[in-house]
Formats: sequence, structure tokens, C-alpha cells
Amino acid sequence: MRIPFIAGNWKMFKTKAEAASFAYNFKALYKGTDVRAAICAPFTDLDVLVEAFRGTGIGVGAQNVHFADSGAYTGEISVQMLEEIGVDYCIVGHSERRQYFAETDETVNLKLKKLLEGPIRPIMCVGESLEQRDAGQLFDVVRGQLEKGLEGISAEEMRKVVIAYEPIWAIGTGRTATPEQAEEMCAFIRQTLIDLYDEETADEVILQYGGSVKPANASEIMNMEEIDGALVGGASLKPADLMAIIDF
Ligand code: PGA
Repeated sequence: MRIPFIAGNWKMFKTKAEAASFAYNFKALYKGTDVRAAICAPFTDLDVLVEAFRGTGIGVGAQNVHFADSGAYTGEISVQMLEEIGVDYCIVGHSERRQYFAETDETVNLKLKKLLEGPIRPIMCVGESLEQRDAGQLFDVVRGQLEKGLEGISAEEMRKVVIAYEPIWAIGTGRTATPEQAEEMCAFIRQTLIDLYDEETADEVILQYGGSVKPANASEIMNMEEIDGALVGGASLKPADLMAIIDF
């Protein structure tokens, strides 16, 4: 049984004070639900959110991490630092990090392995660009990201990994993939996991769709068979919108 999982991705939005105000308003709206919910926020907000959501069941995630234990990596944050704050999740390989910050399948793989040594669950992002989709390469691209990103990760570890399918052309553009397009790729991802692991493992992995998810389209996306959740950017910045998506 896969529990639906909706995660917000705030990207580089919200100061600490704004995060505290969001948490206050969101807690007032949030009612216990069968859906797992989390917010992936800037590093500087994590402490505030972990404190604010303690005991509510609402999870907190980071948006990136370094793969080394420690070292001379100016500006980076380690897994241990995140664990100490008490975060539950960490996004790895978001397309914006691949595009602007030189994230590669190799660094995604190293980050996943480091996270999987401890309790933080990775949310691994995959997805094709519009050019790749138009050229008919979408499945090869996503399969490649999965094969390289998951190299050396055991079946047992794999069950802890959440995979977010985020077609780059649908992120922040208002142009959502149709539920059928999202379902087609999520079914392909599930099949790839069967090839790389086995049916039982593949069946347990939570697959999210991300890219312009909003209250108006959440239910048709969430009702697709292979889609177990959503990674929500813009619409997660407003408590009422995020709650409406969780309530799909
Ligand atoms: P969006 O972003 O919902 O604003 O399109 C999704 C994401 O990048 O995770």
C-alpha cells in the first residue's frame, strides 16, 4: 500500500519570519489526513519549520545537500547537519540544480547514497526537457537518469527513495503535463524499477509528479494509477493552496 505523498518545494522563497507565518497559518488549516505532507524549504527555514510542525505529522525537507561528510566545501551543507535539525526529506537532482548548479547523475548518485546511510528520505527528481520530448528521447533520458542516479543502491534502500517525475517544460510554466502524459512516464519509471530491482520493490516506491500542480488539477493527477503524489512548487507557497492540493 503506497501512502499518497504531497511535498511542497519552496525553492528560494520565504525568509525565516515568512516561514514561521506560513507554518502558523498552515497548521490552522491542516487536519489529519491519509495523505503524507511535507515542505521542502531553504536551509535557513528548516529549524523554524521542524519546531513549528513537531507533533503534527507534517514533514520537513531540504532542497539539496552535499555528499561529503565534511570538508572544505564553502557554502555547502552536510547530511549530518540536516539530521541534527531533524529534517525528514531531502530533494536531490532537481532540474534547477541540474541546469544552474552543475548537478549531474553522478553527484545525484553520491548524494542519494550518503542520505541513505541515515534516516532522511531522498526525493530524487528526474525529467526531460521540451527538446528531448519533441525529439522522442523522453524515455531514454529518464531511464538514463534512473540507471546512473540509482547505481549501487540496494533494493532495501530503494524503498526509502521517493521519485519525482518533473518534466522541465512543465515547471513554473503553468503548462502542466496532461494526467495521461504524467501517468505514461510514471508507469515507465515503475517498469524501469522492476527491471533494475524487482516487482515487489518497484511496487513500494512512491512516485510523484511535479510541474504546475495546483488545486484545480491536483485531483485528476492524483487519481492516476501510477502517480502516488506531487511535488508542488509555486502553489505550495500559500497555505490554502497547499491544503487544497493535499485535500485533493
Ligand atoms: P511548479 O514547480 O509547481 O512551480 O511548477 C515544481 C517543482 O519545480 O518542483
